Amino acid sequence: AQTHTYNFIIETATASPDGTSRSIITVNGQFPAPPITSNVGDTLIIHVTNKLTVPTTLHWHGILQTGTNNMDGVPGIVQSPIAPGGTFTYQFITDAPGTYWYHSHSQTQYIDGLKGSLIVGGDPSDIVLQISDWYHTGADALAASYLTPASMGNEPIPDNALVNGIGQAAGCTGASCTYARVVTSADRVPLCSASTASQQRIRIINTSGFAVFDFSIDNHNLGIVAADGMPIVTQPASSIRMNAGQRYDVLICRASGRPAPAFIRALFDQPAFTSPSASAGALAILAYSATDTSIPTTVPTASSPLFPRADPSKPTTTVPDPANVDPYDLQPSPAVSLPHPNQIITIDISFANDATGVNRANINGHTFSLPTMDDPTAAPLAQLALAGQTSPANSMPNIFTIQSGQVYQVILNNYDNNEHPIHFHGHVSYVLARGDVNEGVPYSVTKPNGPLNYNNPIGRDTMSINGNSSMVIQFTANNPGAWIMHCHIDWHIEAGFALVFMEGFPTQPAVPPPSGSCPTSCPASGTPGNLT
Ligand code: C2O
Repeated sequence: AQTHTYNFIIETATASPDGTSRSIITVNGQFPAPPITSNVGDTLIIHVTNKLTVPTTLHWHGILQTGTNNMDGVPGIVQSPIAPGGTFTYQFITDAPGTYWYHSHSQTQYIDGLKGSLIVGGDPSDIVLQISDWYHTGADALAASYLTPASMGNEPIPDNALVNGIGQAAGCTGASCTYARVVTSADRVPLCSASTASQQRIRIINTSGFAVFDFSIDNHNLGIVAADGMPIVTQPASSIRMNAGQRYDVLICRASGRPAPAFIRALFDQPAFTSPSASAGALAILAYSATDTSIPTTVPTASSPLFPRADPSKPTTTVPDPANVDPYDLQPSPAVSLPHPNQIITIDISFANDATGVNRANINGHTFSLPTMDDPTAAPLAQLALAGQTSPANSMPNIFTIQSGQVYQVILNNYDNNEHPIHFHGHVSYVLARGDVNEGVPYSVTKPNGPLNYNNPIGRDTMSINGNSSMVIQFTANNPGAWIMHCHIDWHIEAGFALVFMEGFPTQPAVPPPSGSCPTSCPASGTPGNLT
């Protein structure tokens, strides 16, 4: 096994990813942040220097951190946040192949750009696409106005979308637009009618703070081969719907015709994004040669806009059938058969105004709030628990103590009308039952989608619960530590949509507490970081 070392300098910069200039957060001056690659069994060492004026952390989304809870990057829970001017070294083993990503877990920093891809066991010919919503205002200011009575709980609506950090300026057409461009070759992308197997893997990551995307590629079909990094039985699709935090790997084929540049479409799915002036998403270009810089012939024009919006309640009419695959009907490969649980936990989700009139998330009636999350001098929950100490937070009703070795079934009842992508750290969660929109709460096995499926349920780390509906997931407590579960709509974490499983304490094998300091190999302050 190898060790891969990265030096990351986190700082702000001014940039115009879609033609509108604003302050963003970069790593080593790059946006999106530098890609991280590793192989199965390798060790990653990432030296972080925080040049922001606020504390930060990095989380490695989807990496299970087996035995290394203290590297999970959640401030106040597994580590003290990295102080402005401070450094911290993350070190962990990438033990499973797949498509992952990393992002700040502090405040709403990842919405401003502090995020990148993390690919384990990939091939150099793989194409990585980070699709994201994008705001023209800094996320701090947006979060501040979201958390006021005046917002009435309405989340900030994105101004635009980006693919690999590039979006189209409002009103641009054809060649006047900027597009992210990725390159394949004809021998890797057979005709869909041919019997040749596709070689071209595309790893799609929805790094949004809020948006659900419908992803498709003009004149190409997708064979979905992995969800959240985990291999599945190949599922053909013309498009795929992706919630914030989710990833899919697809192998692509050409539906017809000669290999030619094609538009990649990341279109907003949310009906809430209905402002006629708002962007409907982002385009990128799949080219068949690095030297072919032409624009696809389906080029949008002024009279045929970038994204046709025939029905404003439906962002697009160009995707064949955004709903043609239910991502929760995908089957794991190899097959799994799950045990029945030893423990059942029920989580009720709702939103309501607090005493000051601010709309907050309530998890079993409690809004998650841990003021020490932003305090670089405060000990995190896991460190206190290891020392046998408790904190006031331990009495919060959304901190659950769970026991090593037990199989936990978690019944999630979503009393809110909106969909929420639930992300759980440190474990693979299997989705045993998932109700349709408005199937009703609380969960009951007699509801249409109530029966529990122990045979080949999909396992993933980010699963979306529908509005006014329930979902039942199951995991094995096989990784001691303090693990957060939260909505991956970043505004909702700010509104208190989180809970923590304290697993295996206090007999948890002692992992070293976060050092908070950088070893001698860290770059001197002021030295630009370079990948090594
Ligand atoms: Cu991708 Cu807790 O986050």
